[in-house]
Amino acid sequence: MYHDFNFKSTLASSLRAQWELDDVLREDQELDFSRNMMPESLARTAAVPGLTADEQRVLNQIAAHEYLSMFGIVEEFLLPFVLDQARPELRGDDWRVRALLNFAGEEAKHIHLFKRFHAAFVRRFPVECQVIGPSEAIGAEILRHDPFAVSLVILMIEWMTQQHYLGSIKDDGDIDPLFKSLMKFHWMEEAQHAKLDTLIVEALAEGRTEEQIDKAIDEFFEIGAFLDDGLKQQTIFNLDALEKVIGRKLENREEIEAQQHQAGRWTFIGSGMVHERFKATLKQLSPRAAARIAEAAPLFA
Ligand SMILES: [Fe+2]
Ligand SMILES: [Fe+2]
Repeated sequence: MYHDFNFKSTLASSLRAQWELDDVLREDQELDFSRNMMPESLARTAAVPGLTADEQRVLNQIAAHEYLSMFGIVEEFLLPFVLDQARPELRGDDWRVRALLNFAGEEAKHIHLFKRFHAAFVRRFPVECQVIGPSEAIGAEILRHDPFAVSLVILMIEWMTQQHYLGSIKDDGDIDPLFKSLMKFHWMEEAQHAKLDTLIVEALAEGRTEEQIDKAIDEFFEIGAFLDDGLKQQTIFNLDALEKVIGRKLENREEIEAQQHQAGRWTFIGSGMVHERFKATLKQLSPRAAARIAEAAPLFA
């Protein structure tokens, strides 16, 4: 066995790690707009050519707005997915039922937390930042796929939050401590979700032939391409917001668009694709599936 995850011990560590919204951000707390909010390893805004340091910071904050919005969208399709996994087996293994319901409850709390951060952001940010959506339509498009493919996308997302947290502590002491703690508290619970989702993936994979797994990987890529299109559109919205704040058109907009789209790819797709635990699960399922995903990963680096 390449891991020792099980429902009972994961539930126990989940219950130990639990926190409340106010531990991360009180409703009346303000974000620090004199600082960056996203780690540079994710937002890559210090590397944007042709902007002053102040303008790079504004773009970094717009990337933070994207982060809050994207996770809002992701958690909203994750919640019904987890509930769907729990519901058919409510009379089964009690540890499984409780672990999955707790998982769902934590994701509902994360949705609430991301909304609270988002509210604090829009309270002080000078312009409106547009977001792709509506989230219901994005969720419906993803959830129409084979649940096994969806579970792999979710597993990738759960592990990527670990990379985000590490980025936020390793990078720079300069980012808003509230954002740092957002990533820390999110990671604390996501670490358990990733284990539970590994168990879900394995259950959904059971009895599938190599051909069927291959088909699910096709769907994984379909969902990935759909998300990537969304990220591309979101980059356009982000630069529109930046131009509004700084009061000028960017002469090298195309170049910045490509660079920032790539930063989004790494943040929301690539950093999960290359996570060792994600790769280990894929390899266990099917070496061919692992190889296909490894081959695509550089595009999202
Ligand atoms: Fe979450
Ligand atoms: Fe999660």
